[in-house]
Amino acid sequence: MTGDPYWNHNVHYHRAVLAAVLDGCGVALDVGCGDGLLARKLAARAEQVTGVDRSPEMIRQARAQQPGNVSFVQADYLDGAALPAGAYAFVSAVAVVHHTRFEDAIGALTRLVAPGGRLVVVGLARNHTLRDWLISGCGLPVSRLLARLHGGKRGPADMPMEKSTMHWAEVREAAHRLLPGCRYRRRLLWRYVVVWDKTQQGGP
Ligand SMILES: C[S@@+](CC[C@H](N)C(=O)[O-])C[C@H]1O[C@@H](n2cnc3c(N)ncnc32)[C@H](O)[C@@H]1O
Repeated sequence: MTGDPYWNHNVHYHRAVLAAVLDGCGVALDVGCGDGLLARKLAARAEQVTGVDRSPEMIRQARAQQPGNVSFVQADYLDGAALPAGAYAFVSAVAVVHHTRFEDAIGALTRLVAPGGRLVVVGLARNHTLRDWLISGCGLPVSRLLARLHGGKRGPADMPMEKSTMHWAEVREAAHRLLPGCRYRRRLLWRYVVVWDKTQQGGP
């Protein structure tokens, strides 16, 4: 339906990530890039794209298809020496930040964004309240329908996965605290999308 090789809840929100890329974007970074599907899509919206993932298997799969303006690096984005600070006009992280402490993840990601650049985080959280369960329940028929239309819900083999330990409200509170001025939206298919712009002075 979309030209993607597979569909799942992360791929579903790639459109939201791509829509947040500002025109004329120079250098972009996709953190926790997995098999590189989003990085390859970003290549049409940015001059140069880097995908980073700490999994050797994910980087091996990503490098199997590598257009000219995309490169893939096997590294841990939490390692301050692995990637240049303040170098990326656009940074995305899809289903990645829950693999570590939220504060540490956001600290590392904001450090990578260039002054005047943008960070987009797509993440997952746990249900805690009745409202959480109701919203998640509403997503179920939509997810099933979309999965059927896309030939099932699938992803790359051997992709490292983790469960989120934070509730929706905890993520929302932490996002607003750590990323002042960010736009946080909970979306139907069990993901939130946060968009944050770094000031030209390099602050929030
Ligand atoms: C659930 S997968 C999501 C992959 C991809 N973003 C997607 O949406 O399909 C999470 C990925 O983040 C990577 N990852 C987790 N923590 C990382 C870290 N500290 N540094 C680099 N990659 C990391 C994992 O290896 C894994 O490939």
